[in-house]
Amino acid sequence: MPGFELFGDEERREVGDVLETGVLFRYGFDQARKDRWKAKTFEKEFAGRLGVSHCHLCSSGTAALSIALAACGVGAGDEVVVPPFTFLATVEAVLNAGAVPVFSDIDETLCLDPAGIGNVLTPRTKAVIVVHMCGAMARIDAILNVCQEKGLVLIEDTCQAVGGTFHGKALGSFGNMGCFSFDPVKTITCGEGGAVITDDEALYIKADAFSDHGHDHIGNDRGLEGHAILGANYRISELNAAVGVAQLRKLDHILDVQQRNKAAVKQAMAGIEGVTFRIIPDEAGDSATFLSFFLPTEARARKAAKDLAKAGVDGCFYWYDNN
Ligand SMILES: Cc1ncc(COP(=O)(O)O)c(C=O)c1O
Repeated sequence: MPGFELFGDEERREVGDVLETGVLFRYGFDQARKDRWKAKTFEKEFAGRLGVSHCHLCSSGTAALSIALAACGVGAGDEVVVPPFTFLATVEAVLNAGAVPVFSDIDETLCLDPAGIGNVLTPRTKAVIVVHMCGAMARIDAILNVCQEKGLVLIEDTCQAVGGTFHGKALGSFGNMGCFSFDPVKTITCGEGGAVITDDEALYIKADAFSDHGHDHIGNDRGLEGHAILGANYRISELNAAVGVAQLRKLDHILDVQQRNKAAVKQAMAGIEGVTFRIIPDEAGDSATFLSFFLPTEARARKAAKDLAKAGVDGCFYWYDNN
């Protein structure tokens, strides 16, 4: 996930723009900011790039998950189906919303198995959070069908798979809301940052308000704005958004390099006895940030991870050890 490896004049210029005006806040200060709106610029370009109507940029991917849950009305007493194989922020966000995470197993896509979801539903189930784990997609069409049939909210944790697609449609744009992370080690980074996307204007308005103490952002006097809902402070600063603007413009290049590198490594590995690869429902839409493979036994997998580390491949983990 190489966003930080590609810092250059572009990031410096965007951050310099902000430092020059001194306006670090994403709202207001219209005159002083000299028409420099980094968070707004990111939101417009990201929504355009992903083909959705709305994007709200926030302080982290974890914040994005909390915002999406709040906007979708998930809270105390609700159950939310999540995969047990994910980064813990998915589960944290559910618990912090006062809801109960309920695990449903993954399949060889390394993401939620659509066929298993029905087994864990109860009258309290309100939502499913699917995680597009390790750079590539879940069987999102089938999972969307399950959610539509059962009347469940679908939130996509796309924190590890920005730029990925399924049959040409952006990951994160299938469910009610999609969540992204731009933390320091993601495919593109804001330093710290996250985003929610949606085609539903009502959800966007709630997300926008929830992330800023419930401010409705109507009018041009912040002190006079209404607060129709309770919120929190999940705002991003203009400095972080500025880094993100430069990084977002490099996303296509990053994906192209990742996809070419991954294809070469995968081809080289394909001949090794015992190696099989994770199922990717649409290979063309893989963001190619990770290469996940299986070996026939735990012992062989652990040895491979150790030997690769010894040989200088420092980004190879045996899944269970990566807490
Ligand atoms: C699947 C997943 N969800 C959520 C997050 C949280 O993102 P952030 O670090 O921006 O809070 C991450 C970060 O690694 C992640 O991998």
